[in-house]
Amino acid sequence: MINKSKIKIGVIGLGYVGTPLALSFGKYFDVVGYDNDKRRIIDLKNKKDLTKETNVKDFILAKKIIFTNNAENLKDCTIFIVTVPTPVNTNKKPDLSHVLKASKVVGSNLKKDDIVVYESTGYPGMTEEACVPVLEKTSLLTYKKDFNCGYSPERINPGDKKHKLEKIIKVISASNKKTLNILYFIYGKIIKAKVISAPSIMVAEAAKVIENTQRDLNIALANELSIICSKLKIETKEVINAASTKWNFHKYLPGLVGGHCIGVDPYYLTYKSKLLGYNPKIILAGRKLNDSMAQYISLKLEKLLKKKKFNKKNLKILVLGITFKENCPDIRNSQSLKLTKILKKKYKRVFVFDKIANTERIRDKKIILLNKLKKNTFDVIILAVPHKDIVSKGIKNIKSYLKQKNIFLDLKSYFNKKYSNFRL
Ligand SMILES: NC(=O)c1ccc[n+]([C@@H]2O[C@H](COP(=O)([O-])OP(=O)(O)OC[C@H]3O[C@@H](n4cnc5c(N)ncnc54)[C@H](O)[C@@H]3O)[C@@H](O)[C@H]2O)c1
Repeated sequence: MINKSKIKIGVIGLGYVGTPLALSFGKYFDVVGYDNDKRRIIDLKNKKDLTKETNVKDFILAKKIIFTNNAENLKDCTIFIVTVPTPVNTNKKPDLSHVLKASKVVGSNLKKDDIVVYESTGYPGMTEEACVPVLEKTSLLTYKKDFNCGYSPERINPGDKKHKLEKIIKVISASNKKTLNILYFIYGKIIKAKVISAPSIMVAEAAKVIENTQRDLNIALANELSIICSKLKIETKEVINAASTKWNFHKYLPGLVGGHCIGVDPYYLTYKSKLLGYNPKIILAGRKLNDSMAQYISLKLEKLLKKKKFNKKNLKILVLGITFKENCPDIRNSQSLKLTKILKKKYKRVFVFDKIANTERIRDKKIILLNKLKKNTFDVIILAVPHKDIVSKGIKNIKSYLKQKNIFLDLKSYFNKKYSNFRL
């Protein structure tokens, strides 16, 4: 049993999830923030967080934290929290390579009575079926006898300054009651909202994936409605607004689903389900539909160009916003980027403007990023991701970059419909 006065927390993986978590714990406990990316550690030591989820003040308040890429510095930790990525591979199967590597690092620093908590999203069973064997093998210790585990799903919403870590209800789970109590204690220090326990690690894991799967499916339904509304020549948003007046209607708007959570987590659930002999039907249908939206938009544009008799050759197209969602620099699985790539194959001059995106992650050299926009330049503007800095100057400003004959696509229905040739 861990002595509460001797708690030292190791956070493994310092990205969107791990950085705010490590800094929050660093206000109350000794914390070792470990990441295997050297550049990330240099940035964090300089109080610089590329994810923009934390600021200098958070670093100053976290008096008890050190950042390191040397795994040996984790050796005195008593609680390890794993927050590394859990993406899917090209076949849309869970890629556990990061979480298993991180488990090896933890295993080699694990001692009797230590606790290992996973916050990385996984399929139901990932912690105990995939990670625990690695911990046991590398530590030569026995699960539930020498060490225990927990799982606590992360619910942060990058770019959302309202729902910050401490304000979100935190679900915890553990392999025994004593471990659960320790987790109540440490998370209770940093979470101002409630900390609640799930009955088992697998329940907590399943809860996390269904949260994002539900969102994915609901957006897929709104996207399907949008395709139908377009055929009906009516506005999706107006239909949804009217329907929302019913007490039990849930308001979801159509949109591009990207990032490495909502568009990925459903595959973790379907993977496990298939292993158990059930081939999920609606979850994968929703994924397929959401994944097809970039293609759908490019076809819509093609039709509009034909209708308005544009010359394809000299066309200049601008995509505004390249990240997976607004006010967040993350471009992983960005559907706006996917749309840009599709357009790039069809038209020669496709440009992107996005001041906040982590553009160094864009490996496609053919994507042309503009630093400045010139007036009267573009035939087509696609407002794909309405970052604050893009939309705050208003529709007139955006339209000033368009030539007189033009097409404007407002994918998130940000501005009044009268300004747009097409909205989802
Ligand atoms: N970003 C979100 O909004 C969000 C929300 C909820 C849950 N999650 C889940 O949290 C987990 C982490 O996501 P993220 O967005 O913080 O990822 P991220 O890519 O922003 O950060 C992960 C960090 O882990 C580091 N890393 C990778 N492998 C490592 C290893 N073996 N050892 C040490 N460090 C390693 C990377 O260098 C990176 O800095 C994922 O499972 C994700 O699904 C993310």
